[in-house]
This record gives sequence, structure tokens and C-alpha cells, in this order.
Amino acid sequence: MIYLGSDHAGFELKERIKEFLKRENYEFEDMGAYIYDENDDYPDYALKVCKKVLNNREKGILFCGTGQGMDIAANKVFGILAAVCWNEETARNANKLNVDIITLSGRLTEPRMAEKIIKIWLNPMDIDDRHIRRIKKVKDIEREFFNPKMI
Ligand code: RB5
Repeated sequence: MIYLGSDHAGFELKERIKEFLKRENYEFEDMGAYIYDENDDYPDYALKVCKKVLNNREKGILFCGTGQGMDIAANKVFGILAAVCWNEETARNANKLNVDIITLSGRLTEPRMAEKIIKIWLNPMDIDDRHIRRIKKVKDIEREFFNPKMI
């Protein structure tokens, strides 16, 4: 299952990618935005998708204008690993890093490129001990700075 979320700037690309996911028989759920609203805010949709991804140990794709806002918001959620992707190389890296979520730019990434990125990222993971070791260190940083008293 892949959970999708976008703000207004990622809305059109999300709608296009839904068609692609249908054609390719991927199971997905759209967590909004359900209509184009230029006043909506990407963190609201990032949070919805992250909660689903965490609860179900599934994958997610977030769309905003640049991909950066969604990436920043998703990586604030304890336990989530997200990566912004814009070409095949960054998609391959997201696959190696086994990220939970990729984020895409609705303003800078063409739908055909977004489709390529998704296919590469969802390929069976290219396991490499170096990447696993480094991600474990990233998770250690997350744990070191997690302080429930601050919330
Ligand atoms: C919204 O205009 C835009 O700022 C947002 O979608 C995103 O690109 C932020 O990084």
C-alpha cells in the first residue's frame, strides 16, 4: 500500500500519479488534498501520510511545489525516513536507503520522470551494508535528540 499526500502545488502531479499507479496495479490511498486549494499547507498532509505509513509500516509519496517542504516535514516525524527525489540517480539512492517516503516536486518534475522515479524506488531494495550502517547512525541521532518532555 502506498499513501499519497499533496498540498496545492503538488496536487496536479499527485492526480497524474494516481492514474499511473492504477495502470501499474499498485495499491494506494489518497490522503488529500482532495481539491485544489491555494491556501492549504503541506505539513498537514505530510502528517496524515506519515501517521499511516508508521501505523501500517507501508510506503508514502508526498508532493509539494519543490518536494523540500514535504521532505522537511516528514523527516520531523519520529521513525520516518524521507528523501526528495528528482531523477533516476536520486531514486536509486532512495531505494538503497530504503526510505519510507519519497517527496516529489509538482513544479519542477515532469510526470514521466516522476513515474520513473517511483518505479526505481519501489524495486526490491538494493541491499548494501554501508547504507544500512549509515541509516542506523541516522536513527541513533534521532533517538539521541528525542525528548518527550520537549513536546
Ligand atoms: C507552496 O507554495 C510551496 O511553498 C510548497 O508546496 C513547497 O514547495 C515548499 O517547499
